[in-house]
Amino acid sequence: LKRTKTILNYLLTIILTFRNVEIKDFENVEKKILKIVLEGKNNVHIVSDFDMTITKYWHNGRKSPSSHDIITKSSTVSDEYHKKCEALKAKYYPIEISPDLTDDEKYPYIVDWYKNANQAILDEKIHKDDITTMCRENSVVFRPGIKDVFQTCRDKEIPFLVFSAGVQNVIQESLVQSDLLYENMKVVSNTMSFNEETGICDKFVGQLYHVFNKNNFGLEGTEYEKKYKNRKNVIVCGDSLGDIKMADGAEHETCLSIGFLNLNKFKMLNKYMNTFDIVITDDGSFDLVNEILRLLN
Ligand code: TMP
Ligand code: MG
Repeated sequence: LKRTKTILNYLLTIILTFRNVEIKDFENVEKKILKIVLEGKNNVHIVSDFDMTITKYWHNGRKSPSSHDIITKSSTVSDEYHKKCEALKAKYYPIEISPDLTDDEKYPYIVDWYKNANQAILDEKIHKDDITTMCRENSVVFRPGIKDVFQTCRDKEIPFLVFSAGVQNVIQESLVQSDLLYENMKVVSNTMSFNEETGICDKFVGQLYHVFNKNNFGLEGTEYEKKYKNRKNVIVCGDSLGDIKMADGAEHETCLSIGFLNLNKFKMLNKYMNTFDIVITDDGSFDLVNEILRLLN
């Protein structure tokens, strides 16, 4: 009981010190965090989105690159491919983030975007080795506090799944180049497959993920499944409303969801607060997650 009280006091103090944290049902959040903390590091795992969650939204006054952008903006691709992808993004991204359309209305457009974007990658005939070059040329911008999250999860052996509608190969290489991919981690996303003889990308393997179908990470029967299978609590982090579905692929007793609301704050805050337990606004840091992880024994 004494430990419970100490944890609750601590939580209250830290949550109140963060200016950009919004919580609709404080009591429920307290209950969830308390259960996660008391049941400890062996009973929890993390599922997090990549683009604009693990990475920042803004960098030096401009939007930071997504995993797709790392390919699009590379000097190794043709001008034609670059222009095509920029045009697709200019057409479809405003639909993805529109506060005035429902998810059902957005859905067919997003599917079209991904079909076109993947086809463009195939048409470009990208070589395996180019991925390494692309990630060196333009690096993604990691959100403040995420490196500590990764390192604490590594040290406490908490499984960390990166589940993204971006490009698996780029995300994995970006993490490797920054020394941030550890044994306890796994990256599930759209995966380019390269011809064994030519080294050229000739297909995508596995499921196609876009921002509205992230409800099944498809890890049944894998080594990684063994790591999270018996853990009853999960922390989910994402920046799109669709990211709330990310933990649906496994059963849990407690799911603590954290949503990063990076833009359209005034129009979207209510929606985000009704979707995620905790909302972090203004492109904020992972500090709150670090505070929770720190409490885990
Ligand atoms: P995420 O699931 O890791 O957030 O990745 C999805 C994001 O990728 C989504 O918000 C839009 C972005 N995206 C691009 O930047 N360029 C593209 O060509 C495509 C298809 C998606
Ligand atoms: Mg995202």
